[in-house]
Amino acid sequence: MATHKLLLLPGDGIGVEVMEEVKGLMKWLEARGLASFAIEEDLVGGAAFDAHGEAISDETMARAQAADAIIFGAVGGPKWDKVSYDKRPEAGLLRLRKDLDLFANLRPAICYPALADSSSLKREIVEGLDILIVRELTGGTYFGEPKEIVTLENGQRRAVDTQVYTTSEIERIARVAFELGRLRKNRVHSAEKRNVMKSGLLWNQVVTALHAAEYSDVNLEHILADNCAMQLVRNPKQFDVLVTDNLFGDILSDAAAMLTGSLGMLPSASLGAEDPVTGKRKALYEPVHGSAPDISGKGLANPIAELASFGMALRYSLDLGDIADALDRAIARVLSQGFRTGDIAAPGEKTVGTVEMGQAVITALEHEL
Ligand code: NAI
Ligand code: MG
Repeated sequence: MATHKLLLLPGDGIGVEVMEEVKGLMKWLEARGLASFAIEEDLVGGAAFDAHGEAISDETMARAQAADAIIFGAVGGPKWDKVSYDKRPEAGLLRLRKDLDLFANLRPAICYPALADSSSLKREIVEGLDILIVRELTGGTYFGEPKEIVTLENGQRRAVDTQVYTTSEIERIARVAFELGRLRKNRVHSAEKRNVMKSGLLWNQVVTALHAAEYSDVNLEHILADNCAMQLVRNPKQFDVLVTDNLFGDILSDAAAMLTGSLGMLPSASLGAEDPVTGKRKALYEPVHGSAPDISGKGLANPIAELASFGMALRYSLDLGDIADALDRAIARVLSQGFRTGDIAAPGEKTVGTVEMGQAVITALEHEL
């Protein structure tokens, strides 16, 4: 059996608490002979700043470069609010994304039947929803140059952000979307604004050309990003894989997330380019939520987002898709059994803590494997 090298970076606040449940799951999988892991753990964020004055050390970065997958918790908290910009906890995460060139951000939005009533939309619109948004993460408006605020001769100030994409940047993110589409329902939507943006026009052309050349077996539809936002709340189940740029992806993935209930349920993955020799991708898996200072240290955090992030690592980095599928079913099972942390409980409903929820998932997994 292959031994997978994992780097665990729990970080701060509830990141540490939910990571404990992932560690429990890893130990259980190993004890059952289902997987083998070589696990390293290190500091990131405020915890790393406290230890050595930086949000991530060079030594930790070297470990990250060598890992098959990085499992990340969350960083930040009021304790570090006054730390300078380049040393603040988030800088650790930004450096990981940048140095590992993690250009593809995967955000699933899954609506479990047991939680369909906690969505802001009607049950029949969201029940059984399972979308994967593939957001370009390292290009576009957030990074394009020029990016500045200048004072004009007439005394006004003018701000500029620049949306820039090259063919290779578009092609590599579209390729990820088509590959994932093949593993899912073979349906990909590509969202841009070709009607008013040159970058949208190029995006559309590059996606169309790649589709024709290599992925004509996948159903591709182009959709304007504003219409896409509307369709996400009108009839979200029409989507399977949705690929889009950094800016639209930021907004559309947050909108899709809220169709499904709580932040405590949402996993994510960030993938880099395939190594031409080994075929492996650098990859970081993390929950969408932050360090939740309001509940940290109390054992109340929902560990499902972190457990499901580890599930994505099993599927996309470790070639253990069967276990990932079983884990997804186990999560659905504990929810239908009525296990609820505070964030997903209806008013008056009985709640469990982080450890109890983690244990319940492992018990359910026993039934699913
Ligand atoms: P947050 O995601 O930490 O919390 C928002 C709300 O959701 C809070 O009420 C929290 O209790 C609740 N919540 C979040 N995750 C939960 C879980 N697993 N179970 C139950 N409830 C949960 O976002 P917030 O409050 O804006 O930021 C707090 C800190 O986290 C800040 O320092 C921020 O910079 C940092 N942050 C870090 C991120 C990361 O590490 N990737 C992402 C977002 C925020
Ligand atoms: Mg956002």
